[in-house]
Amino acid sequence: MTGSDALVLGIETSCDDTAAAVVDRGVEVLSSVVSSQVDVHATYGGVVPELAGRAHLELLTPVIGEALGRAGVSGRDLHAVAATIGPGLIGSLLVGVSEAKALALAWDLPFAGVNHLEGHLFAALLDHPGIEWPVAVLLVSGGHTLLVSMEGPGRYRLLGQTLDDAAGEAFDKVARFLGLGYPGGPAIERAAASGDTGAFAFPRAMMGDGLDFSFSGLKTAVLHAVRRRPDASDADVAASFQQAVVDVLVAKAVRAAAAVGARGVCLAGGVAANGALRAALAEACTEVGLPAYLPSPATCTDNAAMIAAAAWWQLEHLGATPLDAGADPNLRLPLLV
Ligand code: KG4
Ligand code: ZN
Repeated sequence: MTGSDALVLGIETSCDDTAAAVVDRGVEVLSSVVSSQVDVHATYGGVVPELAGRAHLELLTPVIGEALGRAGVSGRDLHAVAATIGPGLIGSLLVGVSEAKALALAWDLPFAGVNHLEGHLFAALLDHPGIEWPVAVLLVSGGHTLLVSMEGPGRYRLLGQTLDDAAGEAFDKVARFLGLGYPGGPAIERAAASGDTGAFAFPRAMMGDGLDFSFSGLKTAVLHAVRRRPDASDADVAASFQQAVVDVLVAKAVRAAAAVGARGVCLAGGVAANGALRAALAEACTEVGLPAYLPSPATCTDNAAMIAAAAWWQLEHLGATPLDAGADPNLRLPLLV
């Protein structure tokens, strides 16, 4: 116990990870527990929303208990309780939001409903508290691919986004097609490690064309290539596919940084755990003389520490969320106009 009055319990249940964390003043992570539901969904090759909601119901209370225990605190020591309020799967969001509200009521604490995308943007601050603004953030997850100019906490301008599939979705679909299993991103990365990135000349869609992305053509190109060459090794397909995604993401992130005079480039979201993407972005940033902010892989993928960090800032600057605020599966990132 730190004796601080600034401890936030964060809860994250927007998709298939049940997570809870205790964070002090939005920066010091006292505990961060993530219980993955991979075993629940692996048989189906993807997340089954109804099963995800049920698994959260079973896992969340023990996960919160573990987060409090590891931090060495009890409800009495907390300053606020926060949960992801959207976007995500409604049945999953409801579990976290309901439990957070109930705990806030029981412990007489403020509740903060946090935007999951904003949580991912705050993840970088946990590992790099000294970031100089503005930074260009490439937020690449299972459901979103956004390029954002972050001018500071709460100050975001949208620079580009995907017109179809999210980057993580492309990894998941290609992995499924190749029979590499779920979740697809880490499976592709593992397979790609022994493959040739030049084995297939997959398209780099919209490469020279603005800051938006498109990944659905790439996915189709992979399907056609494998049907044409059924003897091709999974490793070569995975490596060539991964390289095509990385090339586009890195080129646009660096271009976005130049467009807004950013003082650094930051990665966020589950795909940001990808080693090839991290290495390529670091190299491209070195070439243009900008720092690359790469949160640790565990901070990139879904976790509750990022939710508690965003909540602390939100409570300080915007106040508590009313207890009648509902979960919103389609919540958008709040943008500067
Ligand atoms: O941020 P996240 O954990 O959950 C969402 O908010 O969607 O991102 C999950 C996505 C999945 O599509 C997963 O396949 C991808 O991130 N991912 C990866 C890697 N680890 C997770 N993609 C590529 N390489 C990885 N190592
Ligand atoms: Zn996420």
